[in-house]
Amino acid sequence: MLTRILIFALVSLLACKPDPVEPPTPVDEKVYTPTIALKDKATFPVGAAVQANRLNLPSLSNLVKKEFNSLTAEYEMKQNIFMPAANTYNWAPADAIVDFAVANGMRVHGHALIWHSAVPDWVTNFAGTDAEFETMIRDYITTVVTRYKDKVASWDVVNEAIADNGGTLRNTIFRERMGDDYIAKCFQWARDADPDVLLFYNDYNAEFDQTKRTAIINLINDFKSRGVPIDGFGFQMHISHDAPSMATLTTAVNQVKNTGVKIHFSELDVRANPNKDLTSLTLARAQSQEARYKAIAELHKSLPANQQFGITVWGIYDDESWLINFWGNIDWPLLFTGEGLYKISHRGFVEGL
Ligand code: XIL
Repeated sequence: MLTRILIFALVSLLACKPDPVEPPTPVDEKVYTPTIALKDKATFPVGAAVQANRLNLPSLSNLVKKEFNSLTAEYEMKQNIFMPAANTYNWAPADAIVDFAVANGMRVHGHALIWHSAVPDWVTNFAGTDAEFETMIRDYITTVVTRYKDKVASWDVVNEAIADNGGTLRNTIFRERMGDDYIAKCFQWARDADPDVLLFYNDYNAEFDQTKRTAIINLINDFKSRGVPIDGFGFQMHISHDAPSMATLTTAVNQVKNTGVKIHFSELDVRANPNKDLTSLTLARAQSQEARYKAIAELHKSLPANQQFGITVWGIYDDESWLINFWGNIDWPLLFTGEGLYKISHRGFVEGL
């Protein structure tokens, strides 16, 4: 009898036992909870490239407001968007970004007045004389810079004008129509339209290509000696988690620093999957990327204060990065996951600032 009571008691006890505790959800060490925003830690402006229509998403725009104090239009301030047809301006998308920035006390960096990859068809097919072409471009620059005077602090006047092999001028419609000195003309027109706006030349691969970098330094020094206005250079900084080396990047940045112009890391993103060997982001790769963001922030911080124009990250959510289409493979180059979670790359960036 006693045995039966004991068994009954044991069975009842087991039956009443609460459900076993759920095993803890595995912690994703690739994301974390931030303690401070980038802009609050930084001693120079920290910006992001944004798309006008994405600012309508509250979770994204709140993140932008919280983290950044400088904005760049990812594509809305390029000529193919600004001027889809002759004498026809499309201001609305750019205005949305500029108004958002102004309303939230952010700096606006204009990007980019002249870029061979954003030429509207009607400009490519322009039927007038070379002189008429030049007047059209002058009017374009004057109109755009004048419209955003007092709102846009700085412009990439010409983007990617140096070719990749041998540091010569890239052959573009602007060079063909306006001659080799077209870059200087564009800078001068921008200055004439706004005496206070800062004028940048922006390019890629100067981070590791000594020939291209020398050509850029020569351009800056030539402008200075001729009195052509130029205030800064933008290293685009599309880099990988493991390349170029920090030694290479430091040499590159210091060489351009020696010209005395301001330095912008203008389109920072860090490929975690440059060799296309991953299908999802691993912790090891995320940590390598975290270290990169930290080192890049430290590099910018090492510049003389008056040459620190700031760092702009090229996008917000990983899954919207331009790199995915550009390289044709999955990657996670930015500071936030596709769900808007803080990646540890953000932690590295904060630490370096
Ligand atoms: C890219 C944008 O991210 C894309 O949305 C757009 O379609 C094409 O341009 N160098 C530059 C940027 O200077 O303007 C480019 O941005 C990326 C490479």
